[in-house]
This record gives sequence, structure tokens and C-alpha cells, in this order.
Amino acid sequence: MLIKTATFVVSNTNHKDCPKDGKPEFAFIGRSNVGKSSLINMLTGNKKLAKTSSTPGKTQLINHFEINEQWYLVDLPGFGYAKVSKVARLKFEKFISEYLLERSTLINTFVLLDSRLEPQKIDLEFMNWCGEKGIPFSMVFTKIDKISSSALQKNLAAYKKEMLKSWEELPPVFTTSSESHFGKEKILNYIGQMLK
Ligand code: GTP
Ligand code: MG
Repeated sequence: MLIKTATFVVSNTNHKDCPKDGKPEFAFIGRSNVGKSSLINMLTGNKKLAKTSSTPGKTQLINHFEINEQWYLVDLPGFGYAKVSKVARLKFEKFISEYLLERSTLINTFVLLDSRLEPQKIDLEFMNWCGEKGIPFSMVFTKIDKISSSALQKNLAAYKKEMLKSWEELPPVFTTSSESHFGKEKILNYIGQMLK
């Protein structure tokens, strides 16, 4: 899969205001600061496409980026951001979950997980929720440039073990670094396969 063009289209807080042209899309979700926006920039080869920040809570809206004039990458706000008030968090979670549940052109959701951490309750709960609701997803471990390969293998194994407690088989698993561009081809090829 070759990305020739990547253009920002629209930001909003309601799935009903998302593009209505029926083009297929792929969304990126995960805890605040896990590297969703950076991964979109890495995949598209444009560091300025999605806004990133070292401070959690940067992406607040549903952002559509049109790729090759044929499909969309969607950058979503992070969940589990402690500094957001409870009311704001509930509103947040409502529009994100509505988007995931109602968006009929959503082909796959990439759930981003920080490769440096042991399995996190909030991430496991989110993936179990996706399973219950029949939302197809893949697991993407981020920031692998920040961890040794032995520690990475240990965390991957721990995640797999946890997942297999509630799942018969694992969804596709990717390991990535937006710094070194590791994982770029694999994710783009996977998207290419799903678009066929
Ligand atoms: P929110 O929009 O706040 O939910 O965050 P996000 O998940 O979009 O994270 P973002 O892409 O803004 O990245 C957060 C921080 O992590 C930034 O400082 C990035 O530079 C850094 N970062 C993201 N991916 C990587 C990576 O693969 N390697 C390293 N070393 N840093 C990364
Ligand atoms: Mg972001």
C-alpha cells in the first residue's frame, strides 16, 4: 500500500457529522499519549498531519484524514486521561463509543498499547468491550524504540496471556515505533488487504 496523498478533511464530536461519502475508514484509539497521532503521521509520512504533543489530551475530536482520495484514517481522542473532569470524560467517552458503534464505514480499529507497560486494566476492558460489541480491532504496541527487545517480548507475552483469558484467539498484533518507522509496511499492507 503506497500513500500518495493524505489530507485533513474534518474534525467533529459527532459521528453523524463525519464524511458521508461511504469511503472505508480505519480508526486509531488508545489511552492519551500512547502515540495515536504520531502513528498516523508515521504511516502517511507527514509529521504535521495530525497534531501531537508530549502532554496527554492533545487530540480532542474525531479527525478524518483522507488517503489517496479513497479511504480515511481517523485520529480519535485518547481515553483514561486523569486530568479531564468526570463530566468531560463521560461526554468524551459517549461520542467516541457512539462513533465506534454507529460508524458503518469503519472497517477496523487499531487499539494502541504502550509497549513499555504491563497489561493495563483500562486497555483490557476496552478491548473486551470491543469484542462484546463486535467492533473489529487489531492490537498495536507503540514506542518500541523506548524498550529493550527482551522487555518487549515479556510485555507482549503478558498481554497475550491476559487476552487469552477471555478470547479464543488473538486479534492481529503489530509492534511499531513512530521514531524508527518500524511496523509501517506491515500496517499499511494489512490495510491494503482489508481494502481489497
Ligand atoms: P492524545 O492525542 O493526547 O490522546 O495522544 P496521542 O495518543 O495522539 O499521542 P501523540 O501521538 O501525541 O504522542 C504522545 C507523545 O509520545 C509525543 O511526545 C510523541 O512524540 C511521543 N511518541 C509517540 N510515538 C512514539 C514512538 O513511537 N516513539 C517515541 N520515542 N515517542 C513517541
Ligand atoms: Mg492524539
